[in-house]
Amino acid sequence: MELKNNHLYLGGLPATQLIEEYGSPLYVYEEETIRNRYKDFAENISYPHLRIYYACKANSNLAILRVLKEEGAWIDVSSPGEVFLVLKAGFPPEKILFTSESVPTEEIEFLIHRGILINISSLSQLVRYGDLAQCKKQDAGCKISLRINPDVGAGQHKHVITGGRKSHFGIFIDQLDEIQSVLTRLKGIQVSGIHCHIGSGITEGRQFLEVMEILCGFAMEFPSLEFVNFGGGFGVPYKRDESPLDMKALGRELTLYFEGFCSQYGKTLSLALEPGRYLVAESGFLLAKVNTIKRTPRYKFVGVNTGFNHLVRPMAYGAYHEILNASRVEGEGEPVVVTGNLCESGDLFTQNEEGIEERWIPQIEEGDVLAILNAGAYGYSMSSNYDGRLKPMEIMVKEGKVQVIRKRETLEDLLRGME
Ligand SMILES: Cc1ncc(COP(=O)(O)O)c(C=O)c1O
Repeated sequence: MELKNNHLYLGGLPATQLIEEYGSPLYVYEEETIRNRYKDFAENISYPHLRIYYACKANSNLAILRVLKEEGAWIDVSSPGEVFLVLKAGFPPEKILFTSESVPTEEIEFLIHRGILINISSLSQLVRYGDLAQCKKQDAGCKISLRINPDVGAGQHKHVITGGRKSHFGIFIDQLDEIQSVLTRLKGIQVSGIHCHIGSGITEGRQFLEVMEILCGFAMEFPSLEFVNFGGGFGVPYKRDESPLDMKALGRELTLYFEGFCSQYGKTLSLALEPGRYLVAESGFLLAKVNTIKRTPRYKFVGVNTGFNHLVRPMAYGAYHEILNASRVEGEGEPVVVTGNLCESGDLFTQNEEGIEERWIPQIEEGDVLAILNAGAYGYSMSSNYDGRLKPMEIMVKEGKVQVIRKRETLEDLLRGME
């Protein structure tokens, strides 16, 4: 992202020109940002046996998957649909790890048949896996990973905390004996990985290190491990005054700690991490046009042609996304409330956990293009057709060139599967 003559440029092109050519609303991703984020993450962790599983729930567009595959990523998936997409993008089955909750038996079968490693998240799932896999000996088909709830959770909002006693994710850490007794009974299953993911949007390195210590203690109980996976959750700054995660320091400490653990364990294991947001959030911009400006005695409302059906984070978590006027980025502003075009009072892009929030944005007129920043993660991947609205087009930009990576939907798409 660059500012030239007070205009917003993405991948070397003016945002307003992109809207003129490709229509609105429009998701724009800067390819270089994705590559740089990946390199930044990988290069700051010097541990040589590193697996970076991109958590593709953050954004599963094929073009983005291919960029991350080229960079060397492994891949974290959470549904057969994501398995389908990442195989299409060219990820080999051995680089895929499946983690989900409330997993039905048909999904376990689906994964076994495709040779995809399952991160088992409940005792029930473990038993059902054992019955299906019928492991006679320890071979590739009978390797599993275990998702553990380490009794610690963290994250930017209560809805994204996935560890601790109130959380239903993973097998609770005090159930070691139950796990061992199921494994003894089933025979032939090799626990090749121990995993946890405590939440999303974490910006303090300390929280990763605390959980690492707990999980490594648990991992000592499993002698045939190949990796320990500490999950994702690496936060990015959404507000200008927020400090980014110190990846340099965190990478150094993760490496140091894990090296120490491996020498205690008696074998060199791979260190696995599952960043989603960190790799793609900052690459993405949701561009939308201002349709309607109106007032009440209390607020000035700026209505755009997108809504929480395209970016749900403000509505779901009161999440902050910076908003720029693409053709007057800087200048005198006034407090406005940016609203979507859906039939719900919560369809606001400027809100916090308490509700409506005003934002100073330089003079906005009808017809202007607004850019909602940091929309690359959990934007399109959480979108819907609510209110019969079509999903936006997605493009990827790089050095003045545009690649259409998802066509705009048409009204016909609304009929798919219906008579
Ligand atoms: C199992 C698992 N791993 C990784 C992630 C990625 O989290 P983030 O995007 O915060 O890095 C998630 C997100 O929900 C997850 O559920």
